[in-house]
Amino acid sequence: MHKTKLTILPGDGIGPEVIDAALAILDVVGNQFNLEFELQKELVGGASLDVYGEPITDAVLEKCKRSDAVLLGAVGGQKWDNLPQEKKPEKGLLRLRESLGLFSNLRPAIIFEPLADASSLKKNVIVGSDVLVVRELTGGIYFGEPRGYNNKEGYNTLRYRKNEVQRIAHVAFQLADKRNGHVTSVDKANVLDSSQFWRNIVHDVHMQYSHIPLTDMYIDNAAMQLVRDPKQFDVILTQNMFGDILSDIAAMITGSLGMLPSASIGENHALYEPVHGTAPEIAGQNIANPIAMISSVAMMLEITLNFPQAAKQINTAIDTVLNAGIRTADIVHHDSTAVSTSEMRDCIIESFKENVDYSEPSIVEETVKE
Ligand code: IPM
Ligand code: MG
Repeated sequence: MHKTKLTILPGDGIGPEVIDAALAILDVVGNQFNLEFELQKELVGGASLDVYGEPITDAVLEKCKRSDAVLLGAVGGQKWDNLPQEKKPEKGLLRLRESLGLFSNLRPAIIFEPLADASSLKKNVIVGSDVLVVRELTGGIYFGEPRGYNNKEGYNTLRYRKNEVQRIAHVAFQLADKRNGHVTSVDKANVLDSSQFWRNIVHDVHMQYSHIPLTDMYIDNAAMQLVRDPKQFDVILTQNMFGDILSDIAAMITGSLGMLPSASIGENHALYEPVHGTAPEIAGQNIANPIAMISSVAMMLEITLNFPQAAKQINTAIDTVLNAGIRTADIVHHDSTAVSTSEMRDCIIESFKENVDYSEPSIVEETVKE
């Protein structure tokens, strides 16, 4: 049997806790579908800085390159905030994205109806929305040179090359096609040359997909429209920086940043990680929401392993658990009790295994107070 090689990078803060939940699910998935995984845990971010003095080592990058996929928790934390840019924990993730060529970042924000109350947006605004942010991930202002700062100035470069825009535009149109949807390309073409260029190339690529409706939208308007009426969106195609911002906004449609998975895909490699960060204020307390990480595993099963049944079964298990009112602290109703990370993990696993009925509240033993 083919063994799927995975490099596991828990990272910092709540990263290790949500990764533990993801690995527990993976174990159950492996048993049920007869899949074998070869796992190698490595350091990234602050965890790597503390041991090796750099946010990711070449050896770990090499391991990731030799894996079928990488699962990453989260990186960063106050402890390392004052380091120079090159040494920051985030640089570990950026180097990974760059060296694995992960140009296409898919961030689906799907509303789970039972969670509609956890969102700060009105229920009627969000119910029925299904947005996929397609974020360019290896170009733009995140990577442009020259960059730097001294005590007189700070600067970055926003540059996009034709092939970088073309390839991500193809991804967006192809995904929209599968979803029977449409594409909104988000830019700032009224001000930025790089955005006018982006828009021109997206329109060129669109000629090959003329059956798919395309709308251009400025980033400021898109940010507003996303909270005003998210249902107007299907696939949002955008550059690295705008995608970073819009995907956090889109998270609120789902009720919590703790719900959003992501896939970062290149020609030969893939990395799966939750959209949320390290949440240092709750790290180590076993209260983080592991759902974004678990859904990221579902995305891996679907995209890298081509195993949509397994992905679907995970997503159904998450649905079942949420429908039964089981909630971690970030999504709990104010009048009820939250479960811990490990309890959420166990509930999802149980539901995955046997479609257990969770309507009996006694199933949750230890609870964590909000
Ligand atoms: C994200 C994060 C990262 C980003 C950081 C941690 C480098 O915010 O994945 O959205 O800015 O891309
Ligand atoms: Mg972000």
